[in-house]
Amino acid sequence: MIARNCIERIKSLVNIYDVVAPYVALKRCGANWRGLSPFNSERTPSFFVMPAKGIFRCFSSGNAGDIFRFVQLQENVAFVDAVEMVANRFNIPIEYEKTARREARPHARKSLFDLHELVCNFFVENFLAPGEIGEKVREYWTEERKFSLDVAAENGIGFGGGGDSSLVKKILAAKFTPEAMAASGIFYHRENETDPHRYTSRFHARLTIPIRDIQGRIVGFSARVIPGIGGKNELSDAKYINSPETEIFHKGSLLFGLNRARQHLSLGEPVWMVEGQFDVLRCWSNGIGAAVAPQGTAITDAQLSALRRYTVHLHCMLDGDGAGLKAAERMLPMAMAAGLDVKFFIFPDGSDPDSYFREDFEARFKSLFASGKTGIQFLAWRFLPNGIPITAQEKAEALKKIYEVIAVADSSVARESYLTELVDAANLDRNAVFQDFKSFLTRRKFAGAPSAISGEKTVKTQKKLSSAEDQLLAIVLSDSKIAAEVAQFFERPFLQNLSSSGGKILLKVLNEVKNDVRFGMHILDDLQLFSDGERNLACALVADLSEDCECTIVANMCLKKLHANFIGGEIDKTNGEFRKISLDEDCSIKNLQRRRLDLREMLKHPPQIFCSGTQ
Ligand code: CTP
Ligand code: MN
Repeated sequence: MIARNCIERIKSLVNIYDVVAPYVALKRCGANWRGLSPFNSERTPSFFVMPAKGIFRCFSSGNAGDIFRFVQLQENVAFVDAVEMVANRFNIPIEYEKTARREARPHARKSLFDLHELVCNFFVENFLAPGEIGEKVREYWTEERKFSLDVAAENGIGFGGGGDSSLVKKILAAKFTPEAMAASGIFYHRENETDPHRYTSRFHARLTIPIRDIQGRIVGFSARVIPGIGGKNELSDAKYINSPETEIFHKGSLLFGLNRARQHLSLGEPVWMVEGQFDVLRCWSNGIGAAVAPQGTAITDAQLSALRRYTVHLHCMLDGDGAGLKAAERMLPMAMAAGLDVKFFIFPDGSDPDSYFREDFEARFKSLFASGKTGIQFLAWRFLPNGIPITAQEKAEALKKIYEVIAVADSSVARESYLTELVDAANLDRNAVFQDFKSFLTRRKFAGAPSAISGEKTVKTQKKLSSAEDQLLAIVLSDSKIAAEVAQFFERPFLQNLSSSGGKILLKVLNEVKNDVRFGMHILDDLQLFSDGERNLACALVADLSEDCECTIVANMCLKKLHANFIGGEIDKTNGEFRKISLDEDCSIKNLQRRRLDLREMLKHPPQIFCSGTQ
């Protein structure tokens, strides 16, 4: 874990303008900066950067937050990655915190990155080593795979080496711990084996390809069998062996090559999705720099939204085999939901980008490019093949599948253009298709059918600064003196049951202020305490708080309102009880009357703070 002090220090040293400016063209707007939302496409700028508050606010997407949240959203990385990225960019050393939990290893991540770097160097040395085996490996690379040694060097291609202990020795000599070795996933070892000399490399006798994360750090390896070398790995004879999931290697959210591809993607350029690492390398060596691959696993939403940060145009190169087409069908609605504009490029049966582009690249790429199909054209081609007769029933079934995908688009303009594409691609009657789609939607609505994508997109809520809870929260986060005074009311009944989202955050924040010495926006850095959504809402409220807000006055108005809400509820309750009791229960009536009077009296004395704020 990164030490909280360190997070605060980074925030205090780095101006949010400098973090955002490389991504968004910003123009001055009073004390703030303004630009086009990097999260939504828009014509009128509604994205604001507020250096004084250290936050950004995007009115079109509803996103708001600090420097780390901005990087998280832009780069689609976890909080820790975002902190590391900012720290690296501004040359601020990071301190990690020892945590009490046993499984959390301090420095674990850093040490895992370093270990991978060292192992990669070792593999590269093996690849370049003189001698018979080295030559055979290089021959496989250059003669069979038809790649140059330059491409190998650029991409850290290596050779796992023999099964001896030289790698382990090297690692231990560099002072890595057995725990780090075990956590790296690079080795096989028996359960509970503590002697690292008994660890064996997962990748020995194989051609190794380092896998890098978005920051370019090596997080794992993929390793291919080399025909005729070293026999098979005794533990697996699969063509490829990959690193298992580790603390730093998460297959489902990583795309091979994105760290390099992103440099080629400025908005508006397409990303090329292929199937495996060799396909990516082939594309790169032919000048298609924006190629990435999910490496043998099904595409995930996380990968698609990572791509969406860089481009809206997703071009998929598919093997013409059945599995590739099935995967494409599955992926299309997910990609559409992520806001990606998908095109498919289908290779002749049996070839993949690697094999197809080995020769005659220019002509082949040109013809492939010309054969590209939009998502809807692809579906029409799959399900309504031209010229092949199908029954009316089959046709209806096919159309239903396509409608399901089209329904994923939430704008009616987009739906209309997809339907038009379908009409053209499958040579259908326009009116019939539009009518058909309408009744499909109606039927689906009544059947309550699930949509084509699992896990509907999260709804963006855009709250107006209105409720007393929300306003008070914004003030408490912006002004520590006021926060301390408000926190004195923490135990009071009127602050007990706030149920709105803002109210719940307010209670957590006040609890922190009361118990901790921490104030202001820093409270939100506690990731265990607040969800991303909560931090987002809180930052949005702070951003919306006007610069010239008379915070003490407004805070008192909020307190009064919350207090009045509470008393109002209590009075309602007493009135309810009045109605229930019978007239002869004299004493109860008296009690209730007393209670009602008390409540009315309380209403006249709302809680109040007196400080004049910190400004
Ligand atoms: N893959 C894997 N494990 C396997 C087989 C495949 O992880 N046992 C992944 C690899 O990333 C591979 C991708 O799935 O690149 C596509 O598989 P496949 O088409 O079988 O491999 P190719 O990339 O064509 O491999 P090659 O050209 O080296 O035969
Ligand atoms: Mn291949």
